[in-house]
Amino acid sequence: MLNLILMGLPGAGKGTQAERIVDTYHIPHISTGDMFRSAIEKQTTLGIKAKSYMDQGALVPDEITNGIVKERLAETDTKVGFLLDGFPRTLGQAQALESILKELHKSIDAVIDIHVEESVLIERLAGRFICRTCGATYHKVNHLPKVEGTCDRCGGHEFYQREDDKPETVKNRLSVNIESSAPILAFYENQSLLKKIDGNRDIENVFQDVKGIVDIKK
Ligand code: AP5
Ligand code: MG
Repeated sequence: MLNLILMGLPGAGKGTQAERIVDTYHIPHISTGDMFRSAIEKQTTLGIKAKSYMDQGALVPDEITNGIVKERLAETDTKVGFLLDGFPRTLGQAQALESILKELHKSIDAVIDIHVEESVLIERLAGRFICRTCGATYHKVNHLPKVEGTCDRCGGHEFYQREDDKPETVKNRLSVNIESSAPILAFYENQSLLKKIDGNRDIENVFQDVKGIVDIKK
């Protein structure tokens, strides 16, 4: 069992590293952002609620977010482990996660925090595009598909940009997340679970550091 949390500000590379982690260690990827985006696409009640917050770059309230994570972690595929991406994002969520895991007789093995400077994050989000079929993430300068217009991971040809990657929204997402992440980092540091990595290097180098942490935990 390998239970991991991936933290980092918007654009730090959580989704990019998550793709590599789940392909290497075969654990389910649980991204609250992806779950909300899929609910928005299906126009469910959850999606309609989440959209009003996400469009402004604000956090979806804890009671909604904790509920979907609780349900997801109770699914049987988490028996082998899980990778949480973008959750917890408030101290309230971190505390809720503790009690969810306790009920499920699970615990966290490591919290990996990818650190990247704010100016770099803005540039990363402005250039990001995503495969519509499998969700693989690319960048118009830093990370292009090997064959132009074809996803490396699934062969898909359709890509999109995220609505919340507009410059005005990005500014708000960054300031909201800088504020809310500080107490969680301290929370996990106190439990000796926090592993910080320098995310301001190329994708493969960052992944080598991730592997260095995960390989001793599995
Ligand atoms: P979410 O989807 O989680 O977005 P985020 O945290 O803002 O993070 P991103 O997905 O934008 O960035 P990332 O770190 O995954 O970077 P990526 O790998 O794509 O959340 C969206 C919204 O949902 C929130 O604002 C909130 O409203 C709501 N929400 C979600 N979870 C919530 C929660 N727990 N509580 C409340 N609300 C919640 O990479 C970015 C770009 O950089 C890409 O183009 C990539 O190719 C490039 N790149 C990646 N790594 C590198 C590298 N090493 N070098 C160069 N380029 C790189
Ligand atoms: Mg992401």
